[in-house]
Amino acid sequence: MSSLTPLVIANWKLNGNLDLVNALATTFAGKTFAAQIAVCPPAIYLRDTHFAIEETPLLVGGQNCSRYESGAFTGEISVSMLKGAGCDLCLIGHSERRAIFSETNQDCREKIKLALQQGLKPVLCIGEQLAEREANITQEVVVTQLRECLQGIDLGSSEICIAYEPVWAIGTGLAATPEMAQEVHAFIRQELAHLYSSPVAQRTPILYGGSVNKNNTAELMKQLDIDGLLVGGASLDVTHFLSICELASASVG
Ligand code: PGA
Repeated sequence: MSSLTPLVIANWKLNGNLDLVNALATTFAGKTFAAQIAVCPPAIYLRDTHFAIEETPLLVGGQNCSRYESGAFTGEISVSMLKGAGCDLCLIGHSERRAIFSETNQDCREKIKLALQQGLKPVLCIGEQLAEREANITQEVVVTQLRECLQGIDLGSSEICIAYEPVWAIGTGLAATPEMAQEVHAFIRQELAHLYSSPVAQRTPILYGGSVNKNNTAELMKQLDIDGLLVGGASLDVTHFLSICELASASVG
């Protein structure tokens, strides 16, 4: 069990609508959790979500941000716009952004820099593809992503969060076993200690993502280096997501 306050983030991806925003708000109204909970709806619903969840302990986050702050970049949304819409955090470098929209580690680095400058907590997503796991190069892949995304970034007193999401586990129903996830999480923490310092590694939450549901939450959260969860599909059912949040809260000893 981790010593950090667990963080559970819902990633709705390109799903949901105002009805789902309202269902989430109603389901979580008046509840308290030992875990911190955040929801990342599509950008068009961020502001509605921000207001709808006033009576809940939920935080709001973006699923993506621009690597530019302003200018002629049609279709982009800047970090300061996310902040203005009430966001506390932002996912950066989700594997779908990398695979489908060709986002690079360098893009992630620029986004992280902007997010840190503006006080928006970056949640950097990393993880290996199936072929890479089968070729036994998971550690190399994860280290390269970490080093390139964080190169030149001084964390100082700023907080960053890492989400380890093995690509083969995302949306497939095939979650990593708690042991497999723990092994990579411990490795990531070790690498953070190497890149920064032991205190930075200890205070940086490392979330697991990839087919998380209410049946695997408790076992995942028992692992020493799993500090929280990034939940896709299962977060679209607000009652299911509530169960995940309750189970993650119950993991706090
Ligand atoms: P999943 O997605 O829970 O549907 O596997 C997780 C994610 O992509 O963040």
